[in-house]
Formats: sequence, structure tokens, C-alpha cells
Amino acid sequence: MLKWKELYDECVNCHKCALGNTRINMVFGDGNSKADIIFIGEAPGADEDRTGIPFVGRAGQFLTKYLEELNLYRNKDYYICNICKCRPEKNRTPYEEEAKTCLQYVRNQVALVKPKIIVCLGATAMRYILGTDWRITRDRGKWVERKGFYMTTTFHPSAILRDPNKNQLFLEDLKAINKKYKEISA
Ligand code: URA
Repeated sequence: MLKWKELYDECVNCHKCALGNTRINMVFGDGNSKADIIFIGEAPGADEDRTGIPFVGRAGQFLTKYLEELNLYRNKDYYICNICKCRPEKNRTPYEEEAKTCLQYVRNQVALVKPKIIVCLGATAMRYILGTDWRITRDRGKWVERKGFYMTTTFHPSAILRDPNKNQLFLEDLKAINKKYKEISA
């Protein structure tokens, strides 16, 4: 396992897959690196690629706002990163070999943060973290305890922007995450 600086340096110099050739910035992660909650998304979009910061575009702002309404703040309560550290062109879903190559970095981040709660945002994070037998519509909101982590999944915030009908379920999931967080902090 690498320490933070070594891990960052390895990611910023990474060319293990072709996304390393087209990125503007490697998007490592953001938030409290000692938080009890880690959110894991899919891959950077254009705004993240431009700034080097995860979840700052429209979907990210939406998520940040919802979490703040629950009194969950990025610099205090959670760390946030993606399965893939570099933007796939036109925001396509990362190819399996890209995700699997990058997964070692996410695992290292999780090992360094040592969160109590792992939240997969959307089907890609769910697939690579929780397993290919999980289905986002069927299994969102479900909790499992594995390797000492409480783990769950919910919709990706961009899915809510595309389909506001999912909003209520998304909110319920965020509230359940907050509840679990309060329970483990008590
Ligand atoms: N979508 C993601 O999955 N991650 C980001 O950082 C931005 C959008």
C-alpha cells in the first residue's frame, strides 16, 4: 500500500491505460482524507478534467447541495473520488480494463482513508466495488457489511438530473447514509 504522496504521484504519472493520453488533469479525490464516509463515483467529466477536482460539475454540485442539506460537508464529513481517475472521451462509461486498472488506486485510497461507510454512486462504482451481481434499481439502498466496512449504493447524481422521478429514492438513500453515519459516530 502506498502512502498519500506516493499514491498521488503514481496516479498523476499513470499511463497504464489510454485515458492517460487524453486527460487534461488526473482527478485524484477531494474532501476529508480521514472521513468516516467515502463516496465513489465513476469517472471525471469535462469540468472535473479541467479543474482536477471530482464532482464539481452539474451532477457534483447537485450531490454537494443535497449532502449539505443533510449537514454533510466535503471538507469535514466525507471523502469523494472516482473509480477512474481520468476522463473517458465524451463521458462514455469506462471500459472494463480501464476500471480494473484504476481500481488498485481506489482500493489504496480506501485503505488510507479507513472510512466506516463506503457509498457507490451509480452502476459503475457498484459493479467494481460491490460486484457484478448487484443491480442499481433493485439493490440501491441495500447495506452490506464487508471487511469491516458498511457498504451501500445509490443512483449516480447525473441519473437524477436525467430522471427526476428517481429523486425521492435518492434522497431516501442519502438520509439512510446520514443515519448510519450518526449511529457509528454516537
Ligand atoms: N461523475 C462522476 O462519476 N464523477 C465525477 O467526478 C463527475 C461526474
